[in-house]
Amino acid sequence: MSCVDDIDIKRIPRHVAIIMDGNGRWAARRGNDRIFGHTRGVEAVRASIKAAGKIGVSYLTLYAFSTENWNRPKIEVDALMGLLVNVITAESNELLKQNVQLKIIGDRSSLPPDVCKEVDRVVEMLSVNDGLTVVMALSYSSHWEIINAVKTLAVDVKKGKINPEDISRELFDGYLSTAEIPNPELMIRTSGENRLSNFLLWQLAYAELYFTPKLWPDFSEEDFYEAICNFQHRERRFGMTSEQIKKTKLK
Ligand code: FPP
Repeated sequence: MSCVDDIDIKRIPRHVAIIMDGNGRWAARRGNDRIFGHTRGVEAVRASIKAAGKIGVSYLTLYAFSTENWNRPKIEVDALMGLLVNVITAESNELLKQNVQLKIIGDRSSLPPDVCKEVDRVVEMLSVNDGLTVVMALSYSSHWEIINAVKTLAVDVKKGKINPEDISRELFDGYLSTAEIPNPELMIRTSGENRLSNFLLWQLAYAELYFTPKLWPDFSEEDFYEAICNFQHRERRFGMTSEQIKKTKLK
């Protein structure tokens, strides 16, 4: 029996974020190079998009390339950039059919112009859809994002557009690249590493964290459903007591 049958459709997280980790180790265990692992990781991306769309998740954020990943050997960086663009191009028609939208977050200024151009084309092409939004974090890190937000906010304060007393969590949210997107309720990381690796640090403040030893290329549709089931068995307290939460649910 699939775990999908145990999912309570009324309590699906609106936003799921994933750190897709373990491609290199997956390839090394098979005596292959790291790029082979990234290429095989694409199947797990497809499976996760399919699963998220099927159960009605609204946003699926995928950590595809971090600002720190630029420090990897040039051959791997070039291969990853090429793979990301090729996958976006090759999958665009299928994503259009699946009613998927695409949004990119990250430091655009560090991306090669041809990558930006193709990504923009597909984002525009899929903007007619109104189903699942896949948010691809490309050249992204939370430190980059928060510093960028603080700089823009500081300029607005200097211009007199914002009064420092009016700075609130909600206002700051609007300066992040995820403005307009609800914070993730669930963050999945594959490969057995228990870290956040500079990913959505502000937005994950109250997210449930789910770590699985599976390496990313092995992560399947069923694994995605298992993470959702696990999430639905947790009690989210947001700093309150268990009794308070139970009373709120009864109301
Ligand atoms: C981390 O594994 C993975 C990445 C840095 C790249 C993720 C990219 C893909 C899954 C390719 C396709 C993605 C999309 C969205 C089209 P790692 O290389 O750090 O693995 P390791 O920890 O085992 O070395």
